Amino acid sequence: MSDRSTRRRRLVILISGGGSNLQSFMDACAEGSLNAEIAAVISNKVSAKGLERAANAGIPNIVLDHTEFPSRGEFDAALGDIIDSFSPDLVILAGFMRILTPPFVNRFLGRLMNIHPSLLPKYPGLHTHQRAIDAGDKKAGATVHFVTAELDGGPAIVQAEVPIFKKDTAEILAARVLEYEHHIYPLAAQWFCEGRLELDDGDVLLDNELLPEGGVCVEIRQKR
Ligand code: GAR
Repeated sequence: MSDRSTRRRRLVILISGGGSNLQSFMDACAEGSLNAEIAAVISNKVSAKGLERAANAGIPNIVLDHTEFPSRGEFDAALGDIIDSFSPDLVILAGFMRILTPPFVNRFLGRLMNIHPSLLPKYPGLHTHQRAIDAGDKKAGATVHFVTAELDGGPAIVQAEVPIFKKDTAEILAARVLEYEHHIYPLAAQWFCEGRLELDDGDVLLDNELLPEGGVCVEIRQKR
């Protein structure tokens, strides 16, 4: 049953790196396009620049170094406990470069989202932009999806498509895609926070309508 109350939803955001997607959430919360508060930011890497962004904004930020755990399962259990201590409505993977175990995924199933820099199901895993260029693709993009136990395989919520130009390098393409990640990820989170979006037995429903395989395709005016 959807919860359509207007209470500000609590987010926990997981990062491993620069945190530009985290920044887009901070900006969207500040300007009110996302009716949520970031309860905590957690990084598995002490060097993640996103930690600084969180600290500067007064957001609780925590490092949980995966190398200090004997197994993936034990790291995930500790991570899950920290997340739960902040009572989030939604957990956001924002460049969190860890494969998550099924117990972790199941613990947060239906309230765990990821963004991946490709038009899934194309190019799960790493080096997505180079793989798209090498394949001669004409377009690339990003996908926001609910996380399931299958790596980058959960059902899509929203995709943004961008063109690939002849002279693109992976870096240039990554920057173009990232710009649109910053648009579609807070948007998907807002749908969730409004109680409009749910994972229902492996399907994604938006306003009780089943989404197509790639999710909603957001048209963004392309710039050359
Ligand atoms: C983003 O491009 C995100 O899509 C990607 O990492 C980058 C993080 O950038 N995530 C993955 O590849 C996950 N499979 P950011 O730290 O600046 O948000």
